[in-house]
Parts: sequence; C-alpha cells; structure tokens
Amino acid sequence: MRRPICACVLSLAFLLGACAGTTERVDPQGDLTCAKMAAAGFRRVAEDRTGRFLGKVEPDTARCRGGDNAVRFRVLPYVDWANYWAAGDARSMSPGSAVIGSHLGRNGRGIDGAVLDLEYQRIELIKFNLFDNDGTYKEYTTGRDSVAGPALKIWDAMRLPKEHPSYDAVGGNAEQLCRGELIRFRNLDGTCNDLRNPLMGAANQSFARNVSFESTFPDLGKNLLAQNRHGDRLGLLKPDPQVISRKLFTRAQSHPERCNEGNGLPGYSVDADCDYKKAPALNVLAAFWIQFMTHDWFSHLEEGHNGPEMMAVGCARQRVDNVEMPLAEETIATLRCRPDDRMDKAYIAQDADPQVFEARGKQHLTRAYKTTRNTVTAWWDASQIYGYDQSSRRRVKRDATDSAKLLLERVGERPGLGEKRGYLPLLDASDPMNPQWYGQEATAFPDNWSVGMSFYHNLFAREHNAFVDAFRKQAALTPDADSGLRNPVQSDVTIRYRDVGADELFEVARLVVAAEIAKIHTTEWTPQLLYDEPLYKATNANWDGLFREEDVAAAALAHIVASNFGTPKDARKAAQWYSVLASGPGILGLGSRVYAGESIFAKHDASKTDLWSLKNPDDVNGGVNHFGSPFNFPEEFVSVYRLHAMVPDLLEYRELDKDPNVVLSKVPVLETFRAKATQAMRLRGIGNWALSMGRQRLGLLTLQNHPQFLQNLSLPRLKTATNKIDVAALDIIRDRERGVPRFNEFRRQYGLKQLRSFDDFVDHRLEKGSAERTEQERLTGLLREVYGAHRCDASKIITAAQLNDDGTRIDDCLGFTDGSMVDNIEDVDTVVGWLSEFTRPHGFAISETQLQVFILNASRRLFSDRFFTSSFRPEFYTHLGLQWVSENGPDGKVIERGGSNDHKVEVSPLKRVLLRNIPELRAELDPVINAFDPWARDRGAYYSLQWKPRPDARSDPAFNGSPKASSVDRAIH
Ligand code: HEM
Repeated sequence: MRRPICACVLSLAFLLGACAGTTERVDPQGDLTCAKMAAAGFRRVAEDRTGRFLGKVEPDTARCRGGDNAVRFRVLPYVDWANYWAAGDARSMSPGSAVIGSHLGRNGRGIDGAVLDLEYQRIELIKFNLFDNDGTYKEYTTGRDSVAGPALKIWDAMRLPKEHPSYDAVGGNAEQLCRGELIRFRNLDGTCNDLRNPLMGAANQSFARNVSFESTFPDLGKNLLAQNRHGDRLGLLKPDPQVISRKLFTRAQSHPERCNEGNGLPGYSVDADCDYKKAPALNVLAAFWIQFMTHDWFSHLEEGHNGPEMMAVGCARQRVDNVEMPLAEETIATLRCRPDDRMDKAYIAQDADPQVFEARGKQHLTRAYKTTRNTVTAWWDASQIYGYDQSSRRRVKRDATDSAKLLLERVGERPGLGEKRGYLPLLDASDPMNPQWYGQEATAFPDNWSVGMSFYHNLFAREHNAFVDAFRKQAALTPDADSGLRNPVQSDVTIRYRDVGADELFEVARLVVAAEIAKIHTTEWTPQLLYDEPLYKATNANWDGLFREEDVAAAALAHIVASNFGTPKDARKAAQWYSVLASGPGILGLGSRVYAGESIFAKHDASKTDLWSLKNPDDVNGGVNHFGSPFNFPEEFVSVYRLHAMVPDLLEYRELDKDPNVVLSKVPVLETFRAKATQAMRLRGIGNWALSMGRQRLGLLTLQNHPQFLQNLSLPRLKTATNKIDVAALDIIRDRERGVPRFNEFRRQYGLKQLRSFDDFVDHRLEKGSAERTEQERLTGLLREVYGAHRCDASKIITAAQLNDDGTRIDDCLGFTDGSMVDNIEDVDTVVGWLSEFTRPHGFAISETQLQVFILNASRRLFSDRFFTSSFRPEFYTHLGLQWVSENGPDGKVIERGGSNDHKVEVSPLKRVLLRNIPELRAELDPVINAFDPWARDRGAYYSLQWKPRPDARSDPAFNGSPKASSVDRAIH
C-alpha cells in the first residue's frame, strides 16, 4: 500500500540529486523504471507486523537502484539493497563509472536507495520490536490517560524504590525528578540518566526483548504456535550443544600437532600454527574491542558467577540418519567432546507465569515467560572501567597524588615514549574479587580477562589521565576562565578552571572517555565491520548526521520535522519519524540547543539565541526518546554478540623496535588469559601488543571457525570432574536458558524473510561449482545432519509474526507440499543460524540478521542517553571536554592526507587515542585510516577487501599465500 506522506522522502531524494552539483549524466536507461518507481510513491510504513517491509522492494525499484542483478536476486530471502549499484566494491559500480557521482546517477541511486531501505528497517523495528520486561508493556500496548503507548515518556516502573539511597532526594513517594548533584555526572549505578525515570538503565534492571513475549522460550512449548513450530524436538540439551559445537564450530587444522588445541608450541615458537578462516578487513584489535564494549553494556553474571545450581552440558546424543541416538564411546573420542563437563546454571529473575491482559481483542503477555537481569548499567558509560556498583568501584584505583586521575604505575625500563604513562596496578588482595582474578590489573569489570582486555583498559586509563593533564594545563594557563562546567545546585555560578575539584574532574574525564568510546564504536569500528558505502553513511548518520556537508538536505529534513513530528494527537507517527529526522542532524547533541519556535532537530546556529537552561529539566532531558519503552538491551542483543569465532588461537607477536614485518613468536591467547594477561602486557609492553593485534586479522564469523582453546577452556572455579567448559556449546545453552527464539522465528520477528531449507543459507549469487559455493554446500549438509528433517503438516500454523506472500498463514511445510520431508530449519539455534548466513552484503563481517538487531539497539542506546543528546553540553563536559570529543582530542580537527573510499576523512578517533597514549606507534600508524583495518593492508580502491600489503610491509609473512577475497561482487556485477 502506498500513501502520500512518503512522497516527502521521495522528493527529498530528488532534491538531493538536484542539489548535488555534479556533472555526471543522468542515466536514461534507468529513467523509465525510476519514473515508474516514483509514480508508485514510497511504500507506507506497515500498520501491523504482517505487512512489514522485510528489506524487499518492488521490481521497478530494484531495477532503478541496481539494474538486472538487483531484480534477479529479489527471490532470495536476503535484503535487496546489497545488490544495488555501488553497494559493494568498485565492481558494483555502474559500468564505466568509478565514483558515486550524483544522486540521480545509477551509483547514487544505489546508495541512496540502500540508506533509505535501512531507514525503513529502523522505523519498523522501532514500531514493532520493543518489548520491555520491567512491567511497562501493558501501557505500551493500551496507552495511558489518552496518550498512546509509544508516546509515553514516564513510567512508574522506572521510579526509585524505597530502599534506594536517593529515594528521598528524587521525591520519594511523590512525583520523582532527579536534580542537583544527582544529575551532574554519570552515577555509579546508572540512575538518573533520565531525570524523570531514575531507574532506567540502572544496574540490575531486566533485560528487555525485541521479540514478542509469546515467541520467547520455544523449548517450553507454552503455546500452540511454538508446539507446531518445533514439535517435541527442542530442549535445553536438544539438539546436543556439544555435538553442535564439535561438528559445526570446530576449526579444522591442517597440522593439529602444531596447534595443540590452541596451546601452540614450547617457547611460543613461530612454527606453531592454528588454522582459522580470516576476515579480510578487520584486525584482532576489533575482536577485543567488541568484547570490551559488551562488558560495558551488559552482563548476566554476578562477579563472574552464575547461579548456584550445576547442570550437564551435553555430549550425550546425536542424530544418526535423522534419529536421535546416544553417543557411542568411540564417537565421543572422535568428536573430542566431554560428557562430564558441568556448568553453573544461568540466573533467572522471574519464572512464574506472566500475567495476561486483553487489548484490541487479543490476549497479550505482560512479560516474557522468564526474565533475567542486566547486572551492569545498560548505559554507554564506560562502566567496565569506572564501575557499576560498590564492589566494582572498589576495584577502581585513583592516583593519590592527583585523585582526578586513575592510578597508573611505571613498569620496567622499556623504551617507548608512552611507557612513562604507565600501566594499571594489580588488584589488591583486599579488593572484592573472584579468586580466579588474582594477579590481574585492577579494573571494574575483570572477568574473561585477556591481553585484549588489558590492552583497552590500559589505553583508556592513559586517555583518562591525558584528558586530566590537558585540563590541568589549561587551568594553569587560564585559571580564571570559564571552564563551562556548572553545578545544578547553583547553576548561575561560573565554575572557573581553577575551581574545578579533583572529584569533579574525575567525573568529567569519565564522561569524555565514555563519549570517545561511543564515537569510536559508532564511526570507526562499525563502518569497518560493515565495510561498504551505505553502512558508512548510515553509521556516521547516527553520530553526526547523514548530510553533514549538504545544507539543502538538512533543510529538507527540517521541513519533514515540521510537517510530521510533534503533533501530540499523532504520537505513534511521531515515534516512527523521529529516527528519520534524527538522521539529518545526527543523534549526538540532539536537543542540546534550544531555539525559540524550533524543533530539536534544528541545525546548530551560533547566530541564534540558545535558550537551553540547566534549571529546566525539560531542556536537560529534552533530547532523549525511548519510543514508549524504557531502554535496556534485549536478550536477543546479547545473543548476536556471541562473537567468539572472531578470536584466533595464537597471537602473532611483533615488536616495534625490531622489524615490524617479522613475527617473532606465536603466543597462545590462553597464555594471555587472566593474570597471565597482566604479565604479558607488562613484560612485552602495550606498543608491541598494539602492533601485533593491529596487524593480525581476526576470525571470520562463520561455521567451523571457533577457537580451539575456547572449546577447552579451563574454569577451575567450577570444581567439576573436568574443570573445563566448551564456551561455544555454552553460547547455545545460555540462549536456550534465556529463551531466545530459534533462528527462523528470530528473523521473522525482526522483520526479515524466513528461510525454507538449509539450502537457503548458500550464497546463490556465487557460480555453481565454485570452490566457495561447494564449501558452503558441504557445511549446510552438516546442518542437515545435526538438526535433521521431519514430515511436515500443513495444518499446523507456526507463527504470528509474518504471512506468506499470498497473505496466507505460514505453516509447518513452509510452502512445500503437505506431508513432504522438510528441513528442521525452525530448530536451528540463532547463533548457528547467523554463523551459517553465507549470503551477506559486501564487506559485512557479520550477517544481515545481526545487523538488524544492531540497527535498532545501536540507535536506541544513543537516543535514550541524555549525555549523548540534550546534556552533551559544557555544563557537564566542560568546554575542553566537548572539544575533545568533537575534535578527537585537544589539538583541533586533523584531516588525513589521503582520502578514503571517495571521502575526505578525519584522522580517526581511535588512531588519535593511540597516537596520544602510545606515541611510539607513529610510524606504523601513519598510513592507517581506520585502526580496525589490518594495519599493513593496502586499503586499495573503493571498499576493496584485497589482502595486499602496503609498500613497506611487503616482507610481512602474513601476506604470503591467501589473497582470497569473496568472488560474490564479481558474480553480482
Ligand atoms: C579470550 C577471549 C574470551 C574468553 C576467554 C571468553 C569467555 C567467555 C565465557 C566463559 C563466557 C560464558 C559466561 C557464562 O555464561 O557463564 C562468555 C560469554 C560471552 N562472551 Fe566471551 N570470551 C572471550 C571473548 C569474547 C569476545 C571477543 C566476545 C565478542 C563480543 C565475547 C562475547 C561474549 C558474550 C556476548 C557473552 C555472553 C555474556 C552474558 O551472558 O552476559 N567474548 N565468554
């Protein structure tokens, strides 16, 4: 169905074209289909879940944006935009062109179309995928006091409870409003980020869901749809998680004795060799970065423990010729799984049957069948460094000589300019500590510590202190100048540089470091993970706007704001459009300027009077939007971040003051685990680890690519017969314990098309018989072996999330003939499913299913946080702090000499952090554009994935052999 409102967006697309000032000729061949597309108008945002976009466009739209290939591949279940013009590398450009050119040319249409498709997905995700588990869902569905649910902004469930120390300060039993000291900085336990919802995002709030509550915990068979979907085939250990791990996740080794289950060889010999499938354009720093992030965002564990009860973890049964059988001894020996492994069960917060309510003639659950708690703050507040409760804060050591700083100590006499900045001290025996952490660096979140965690914690501790030093330097130069900081208790009093106390400066530095981290993640890590032009645009739009250099486009968006947003009676629509509108100016700083009569999307304009006031809670809080559902990460988000396959078994160690092209030793990651990480860091130095992890590629997220050491991880705290655990198998068990829907329903719930058989995983854009496709076919054969097939029954309806293309209900036969044998595709665990998605957009290190989860949640963690929106102001960050975040440091914006992928780019924020704190990396980093791209890789032309050394790294052995990049782009275009 079409409707005129979308014509605004259409005319915007043409407006952009008209204003681009390009000389590229308009494509006459595409004109006809584009005209037809334009005549049809833009699709309307679906009224209900069954009418969703699903990433699929009409044939005319596909042809206009991607020519014949985009039309041809519409039959695949995967999103169409991946096949648009210019959405891949240079080969995806329209023949005869080498630049994107105008918005009306083919390439421009491809990119604009892809960005619009992504925005549609976001709008619908916001509309259909928010399910809060903390007791607000009923109001979200029914509304309150004539206000529609998605427009609600305050919830009783987000009030501080009586026992909270700030209960009285926020108003106690009366209306609660955070004020005074409580709103100055990021509070330790995450309270008072939202002034009127003090508890939102705080530690120990429930994980939310992005899928309907009824679709959670399919193993429990709580409703007919789940029973129809899975029969009696599912259980906590069904199919067997260790068998899944060993058959589907194990990295094949050409020289098992040289890998030694990830233990390498004596003396860290360079002859050690653990084969792994490598991602072409992401380095090991990127793998540890995301682990570092997850430790900030979420955790199910408490101080490194799960619940007190133990459970078996499989290695008991497998399917043979489609029949479940006990594992024979010899099969156990061949698979190398361990029947005697045991693990502590996951914590569950609530497992009583949820209440039910009725709305619009339907019964709804008020929460999922069981809930769990996020034991850290959900905010992007660097809580892994600074703490999230009293115990974790006690592990954070401040410098006694200047308590604004974190304690760092000199270690040894290694050369290197950054060495004098020091390293984190070790945990004290008196610190709150799980015994296995003994000997590690002192930091708030010490679990699963490795040299990767040590690296980032040390780096950002140095960055914290670098900011404090710069602030102190400024204070010495201009002691009486206004620092920008204000205390809400006396907001009219100017706080000069000389007045800023050590505790205040510590908290300002925390704000700055957290914002820098968020910026690195959004504008540097994510575009390298999703290495193509549409995602470059989309991720940068999240931070500082889609049309940074295009004023006309920003004006067009402002027009859309005025005409679509903010009319209270149309609250539902407002919530949908908000994300589109925000992509014009960007989310960072939304609402941090208030101009008379203008919306929060107005462009910053120094000539206008800024009315923002610290005295007005609606200014301080005014930029946030929770879309009617309090912010916390959903359980599904944790699941798609189980990225253990990224970790190699062996780290290729190099040194800066020797030849960086020489691998000196191969250090098992295991030899850098827990306290050994700290020793390895101190012994070898942060600069050498940066070089080593910066140059090495991380593991592809695909089947049969999990680190051997994680399948055999020693966890002595368990005190079991083996003291070991297979973390890859545990990933599957935990998702089952927490009720993550299985892969196909997961996709349907998130607004993606379902798969009908295991064959749908194969990338059908590849030539038949090609080596890549043959390997994919082999792996999907293994999926069939593990998960099996069943005789289908078309009378069994299996989902309420989507309909078939012809409007009928989706049944157990998935379109195949009633009574035929169909793959048990519905049973595939979500982690297994996204690892099996061989069909991906160009440059994607993750699958499109994972991206779908990120689109929603990556936006929400910015939209909901006032410190990234309306409180991104000097009153909180200081003038220096704001400048530091905006310009990547104290010395103003720095632009790279060469551009990248047709863009002029700033020296990236992580590169600036590295150069500031480990200056000995200067020569190595000079040619690097994105710190997560393998440092010695020649980035080549437009989004190339080539594995080719930069000129000074030709002797680097990492470039011997495997120049393989996917041939998909060649196949498409
Ligand atoms: C040396 C490397 C690593 C080790 C030793 C390690 C170890 C573990 C272990 C033992 C667990 C299970 C906790 C439990 O449920 O009882 C776990 C969970 C997890 N790991 Fe890793 N991991 C490593 C790297 C990574 C990386 C690179 C990522 C990437 C994002 C990652 C993401 C996760 C996630 C999302 C969970 C679930 C956490 C939760 O349930 O709250 N890990 N890891």
